[in-house]
Amino acid sequence: WAVAAPYVRAINRLKKEKNAVILAHNYMTPDIYHGVADFVGDSLQLAIKATEVEAETIVQCGVHFMAETSKILNPAKRVLIPDMEAGCSLANSIGAEGIKQMRAQYPGAPVVTYVNTTAEEKANSDICCTSSNAAAIVRALPEDTIIMAPDQYLAQNVARQVPEKNIVWWNGSCVVHESFTAQDLKDYRQWNPDTTIITHPECPPDVVDESDFSGSTSGIINYVREHKPKQALLVTECSMASNISDELPEVDFVGPCNMCPYMKKITLEKILWSLHAGVEEVHVDEDVAAKARVAVERMIDLSK
Ligand code: 13P
Ligand code: SF4
Repeated sequence: WAVAAPYVRAINRLKKEKNAVILAHNYMTPDIYHGVADFVGDSLQLAIKATEVEAETIVQCGVHFMAETSKILNPAKRVLIPDMEAGCSLANSIGAEGIKQMRAQYPGAPVVTYVNTTAEEKANSDICCTSSNAAAIVRALPEDTIIMAPDQYLAQNVARQVPEKNIVWWNGSCVVHESFTAQDLKDYRQWNPDTTIITHPECPPDVVDESDFSGSTSGIINYVREHKPKQALLVTECSMASNISDELPEVDFVGPCNMCPYMKKITLEKILWSLHAGVEEVHVDEDVAAKARVAVERMIDLSK
């Protein structure tokens, strides 16, 4: 904190001067999460918050698809991302072409895209979903066969929750969550039977099977706040435990966890420069944004 403090002070001063707000994902490091964010949340909460921002500028502390989603939902605002290279292994893994291929393969099936997609991918889909509402979105659609893209594991986990639907999926995956294995968790539980194991639904289904709870990043935080387990293993990105460990001293957070190399591109130094210089501004083509907005707003309406 001694190193972070001058940055935190400067960023919070500049935010006021520039009429800006910082929307930060739960995977941001504690200095960002606790020091400078005006709002923290999971992908769905960040998207909803973006529609409510009145300040002139949104600084998106998260990955590029999140900044694009804010721009799509609130196009009059200037949306900045502190590092344009903050991508995601899922976004752009299918592309508009892949979506068209799947539509040709399953005629009449609606396409549900995970929000972890580019604006163009969203524009080519019927409705979006996040990890917190995917099962509800799929259940609400009248069709029996549903295309989910691009995260194969989220789709497989949803398929088990909604067995009455025939869900087909693209074979994308998250680099952070695909590398946990069921055997790792079995071994862990054998030696630490009292640990509460919590997974994110981007983990493969056999990994989710080894957990006591699976949910979105905010779902995970709320579960730990409510249940206060003695020992918790969060099978997700490492900043999750760091961000809540101070407020929950009674919970012993144990490893392993994985770092998201994209989320970790966002740092206090880059946020300060972003605010100071007004960079990097996120633009979305107006036609693409209009179509993508339909898919994202349908999701938000169904989530209310
Ligand atoms: P959440 O919607 O659960 O925050 O997930 C976003 C994400 O990128 C997880 O890897
Ligand atoms: Fe993408 Fe996975 Fe990183 Fe989330 S954790 S931003 S899904 S690569």
